[in-house]
Amino acid sequence: MKNLVFLGAPGAGKGTQAKRISEKYDIPHISTGDILRANIKAGTELGKLAKSYIDKGALVPDEVIIKVMQARLAEDDCKKGYLLDGFPRTIEQAKALDEITKVALAVNIAVDDEAVVARIAGRRMCACGESYHVSTHPSDVCDKCGAKLYQRDDDKEETVKSRLEVYYRQTAPLIEYYSAKGILVDVDGMKDVAEVTDSIIKVIDGNC
Ligand code: AP5
Repeated sequence: MKNLVFLGAPGAGKGTQAKRISEKYDIPHISTGDILRANIKAGTELGKLAKSYIDKGALVPDEVIIKVMQARLAEDDCKKGYLLDGFPRTIEQAKALDEITKVALAVNIAVDDEAVVARIAGRRMCACGESYHVSTHPSDVCDKCGAKLYQRDDDKEETVKSRLEVYYRQTAPLIEYYSAKGILVDVDGMKDVAEVTDSIIKVIDGNC
């Protein structure tokens, strides 16, 4: 069963790779960041709460996110497997996930901090979810739907710094958590997008 978790710093390429890998294996790509941003856009109570944390580069409280993911993972499409992008992000969330389902493989996309900052600073988004970069894929509008691209509010330099600090303090310990379970694989995220995808496919096919 392809029950997959993607780990990695902000901007490591989790979303970019998750899109490709979920299509290849026909499993749902579940991004907590996307779920929260959709709620912010829709003006829900969850969205209002999430925005106050996301704007500071802080994590939304565990109990809130865990409730969201309990509901999402209970949906029918997850019966064939899933790819989690941005969840779990704390040890508490990882323990909660273990109570809901059995993770088969955690893929850690490793990049250095300098690349993270450059990738995030140059990222441009489309409302449809497509992600672009000013140097590798420059555009003002989305190739897929034609909408105007924008920069995420939390991609501004000062917020990126907080997101990285939060990553090292709260999320990086998950590498050890999954390593101790014997289900962690590291992938070099510094290569180009297609090469990273190939490496991930190799580790999935070799382990699941
Ligand atoms: P979230 O949306 O999950 O953001 P993130 O983890 O910070 O990750 P990003 O989306 O910034 O980066 P990515 O790794 O997906 O990189 P991407 O593929 O886009 O979370 C946002 C916020 O929501 C959090 O800060 C928190 O507040 C809250 N939140 C979310 N989940 C939560 C949870 N579980 N608990 C609590 N709070 C939560 O790539 C980045 C750029 O690089 C793009 O421009 C891309 O084109 C480019 N790129 C990608 N790969 C390559 C490559 N190989 N070479 C060159 N460029 C590349």
